[in-house]
Amino acid sequence: MTAYGNIAAFYDLMAGEARTRASGALVARLGHLPPGVVIDVGAGTGIATSALAEAYPGHDILAVEPDAAMRIALLSRLSAAGDGWRRVSVDPRPIADIALSDPVAGVLLAASLVHFAPPARQALWSMLDGRLAPGGCAVIELQAMEAVDVPSSRFGLRDQGKVRYEGWMRAQVESPDTMRWTIRYLACEGGAILEEAEASFTCWVCAPATALSELANFEQLRARVDGDVLTVWR
Ligand SMILES: C[S@@+](CC[C@H](N)C(=O)[O-])C[C@H]1O[C@@H](n2cnc3c(N)ncnc32)[C@H](O)[C@@H]1O
Repeated sequence: MTAYGNIAAFYDLMAGEARTRASGALVARLGHLPPGVVIDVGAGTGIATSALAEAYPGHDILAVEPDAAMRIALLSRLSAAGDGWRRVSVDPRPIADIALSDPVAGVLLAASLVHFAPPARQALWSMLDGRLAPGGCAVIELQAMEAVDVPSSRFGLRDQGKVRYEGWMRAQVESPDTMRWTIRYLACEGGAILEEAEASFTCWVCAPATALSELANFEQLRARVDGDVLTVWR
């Protein structure tokens, strides 16, 4: 499973702006959707879920998020949003464990495909093939398209009151298909560290050619990659 428990508290503060921008662009690619449920796979703190709820006011939304710490932020976001978002359900199980019954109009994976090992990815493509309604669409951020070492760099810096927050990340190649990503957050005041949190996890690489050749096995699906975004239609 995932390793966000340690670092979930920092996610929106450090990555919120960038993830809001990325999610908006990803949701826009889903376009017009047929009737059915729209699924946010790996909803995290709900940044993209909010974008989906706003973009698709007539659709039920299913936010799938197995990490309990991320779900605290997700459910808080939903409870603050009021009655208009009562149609958003949250499921705490990994997507492969959910028996979907409604037609699936749209599927979004924003920064979550890296958690899917090849068999899990295969199960995801099968789910799209079996459940996506005619005219339905899935938009998937590939994010890690080759295994490369990434030296430690700061991706977030924010003063919140008297506390300065910093987000750092690095990655090491583990195998041709995996990298070890390490994310580290610091909260400092007056030069002293108040809190330090680190999470490390295996991230699965999926090159555009790999995704397209895996999806070519499914007759009902068509797929295209633009930059780091994979779009799949039925
Ligand atoms: C980097 S976060 C992305 C959160 C959000 N989509 C965003 O763009 O900010 C990746 C999320 O995927 C979730 N995840 C990992 N494996 C999953 C699975 N098998 N099914 C559903 N979600 C999963 C993790 O718990 C984590 O919250």
